[in-house]
Amino acid sequence: MITTILLVLVIVYLFRNTLSDVSVFNPFAEPEVREEPIVEGKFTPETLQKYNGTDDPKIFIAVKGKVYNVSQGASFYGPGGPYENFAGRDASRGLAKNSFEAELLTPINKPIDTLKDLTDAEIESLDGWEEHFENKYPIVGSLHENGETGETGQ
Ligand code: HEM
Repeated sequence: MITTILLVLVIVYLFRNTLSDVSVFNPFAEPEVREEPIVEGKFTPETLQKYNGTDDPKIFIAVKGKVYNVSQGASFYGPGGPYENFAGRDASRGLAKNSFEAELLTPINKPIDTLKDLTDAEIESLDGWEEHFENKYPIVGSLHENGETGETGQ
C-alpha cells in the first residue's frame, strides 16, 4: 500500500509541469502573477495630464509621441521627485535640452510640440532618452492633439 502511494506521488511529481498546464485545481501550478494589463491607448495633452502621480497614482510621460508608464520610477517623477514636472506631460523638449524646467513644457491647451527647431545635438540627446525609456518602461499609448480622440481632459 505504502509503495503504491509513494509510486503515485513520484508519478504526480514527475508530471507536475504537464499537470500545471491543466486549468483545473492543481496544487503544483505556479501562482498566477496578476499584472495590470498594458493598455494601448490614445492620449491627448489633456487626458495625459491626470497621470501625474497625484490626480491618479499612475505616472505616464510622453516622449516623441509615445506614452510610457513610468510609475515604477515614481522616485524620479512622483510628487517631490526631481523630474516631477514631466509627470503627465510631453517631456520631449526638456529631455532634448537636458532641462526639467516647467517653461520648456508645452502648455496643455496648445498643439503638440513639433520639435522642429531642435539642433542635431538636442535630437541626439532626445533619441538617447527615448532609448532609455523604451528599454525601461512599458509603452501604454500614443499622444494625439487635444480633441482628436473624442475625449476631454476631465
Ligand atoms: C543636477 C544634475 C543632475 C543630477 C545629479 C542627476 C542625477 C540623476 C541620477 C543619479 C539618475 C539615476 C540614474 C539611474 O539610476 O539610472 C538620473 C536619472 C535621470 N535624470 Fe538626472 N540628474 C541631473 C540632471 C538632470 C536633468 C537636467 C534632467 C532633464 C532632462 C535629468 C533627467 C533625468 C531622467 C529623465 C532620468 C531617468 C529616470 C528614469 O530612469 O526614469 N537629469 N539623474
